Amino acid sequence: MAVAMAPLRLALLIGSTREGRAGPTVGDWCVEVLGERDDIEVEVLDLLDFSFPARFPAEPTEEMCRFAGAIERAEGFVVVTPEYNAGYPAALKQAIDYAYDEWHAKPVGFVSYGLRTRGRLAVAALRCVFVELRTVTMRDEVGIDMSGPCGTPAQVGAASAMLDELVWWGLALREAKQRRSFVV
Ligand SMILES: Cc1cc2nc3c(=O)[nH]c(=O)nc-3n(C[C@H](O)[C@H](O)[C@H](O)COP(=O)(O)O)c2cc1C
Repeated sequence: MAVAMAPLRLALLIGSTREGRAGPTVGDWCVEVLGERDDIEVEVLDLLDFSFPARFPAEPTEEMCRFAGAIERAEGFVVVTPEYNAGYPAALKQAIDYAYDEWHAKPVGFVSYGLRTRGRLAVAALRCVFVELRTVTMRDEVGIDMSGPCGTPAQVGAASAMLDELVWWGLALREAKQRRSFVV
């Protein structure tokens, strides 16, 4: 008999801060999808809510610590990212780099959006970054073409597959960490 486990603590990162951004539309849809699951509890981390310094400072600022603290609390992540010139936003990379150990041994899923490519190249680039941060990235991803609607049955299906995989990894890693700490 399966033992009921506390829901996975997931952080949903909204990776675009551009003026007039579509990020919140995609983020709100993700929150709606996540709200239908009882195996996940979500904290939204909208990068626009953080005031990071323009230059990487010698010492972490309060805002950098607040961000790293939220990454520490989470047991898994969904990164919502647009594609800019075959990459992902600079604001997202800036935030990712403000945590390190806090990312380790946790699963990461992606919801990307753009035109034509649906943000797939942004996700491909992010996968390299998240390997460096010792995370486990989910094979299944959600890609949204912003020239069409957000929340189609295909997108809901893709989100469900990605989240199922992410919850499996998140709970498996929670159990593993109770037995032995993650040391590298
Ligand atoms: C600077 C810039 C570069 C872009 N480059 C791409 C691209 O390479 N591939 C793509 O599919 N869409 C590209 N787009 C379209 C964006 O992905 C689309 O406008 C998306 O809504 C942007 O996200 P945001 O509104 O949250 O900032 C680009 C948009 C901008 C502003």
